[in-house]
Amino acid sequence: MRPPLLCLTLAVLCASACGGSKGDANAATRYIEQAAATSLAAVPAAEESASLRETGRNVFRGSGCEMCHSITRQRNGMAGPPLGGISERMLERYSNDALEGRRWLFKHIRDPRRFEGPFANSPDYRGAFMPPNGQIKDEELRALVEFLWHLP
Ligand code: HEC
Repeated sequence: MRPPLLCLTLAVLCASACGGSKGDANAATRYIEQAAATSLAAVPAAEESASLRETGRNVFRGSGCEMCHSITRQRNGMAGPPLGGISERMLERYSNDALEGRRWLFKHIRDPRRFEGPFANSPDYRGAFMPPNGQIKDEELRALVEFLWHLP
């Protein structure tokens, strides 16, 4: 495990083990905020985006996301919301800011409870939680986000 991921895991573990004491919780939030800002410094240009999406598709398949999410606009009886068209929901939420929308996806996948999604606050939500994911490396997560962003 690379040191940054270890720190993240420790920060998250500590935040929950210490009964969510405010200082630790804030440290974990800041750590994830920073990773998202550093990894996603700008919206990827077209050519880079295309290659990131290819990598991102494999990260999606290799990370168990398919157990709970369809990549179309139909839920198909899965536990999580369908991910087709997710960028439209992000653009709506972040006033058409394509960079903030991508960063939010990054943060949400790292820690879904700390960075709750629109779905968790919608009437369709029935209380199933998405597990946090500390295993995916920042660079892979950037590719995964680009893949999700372009799901039609
Ligand atoms: C065990 C089931 C499960 C797994 C595995 C899972 N998710 Fe989720 N996901 C959910 C649930 C349930 C929600 C809605 C509640 C929430 O936000 O926690 C959700 C929410 C989301 C959202 C926010 C959607 C919205 O409109 O708010 C995104 C994006 C997402 N998941 C992507 C992923 C990705 C990418 C992976 C793989 C790394 C993944 N999920 C793995 C169950 C899962």
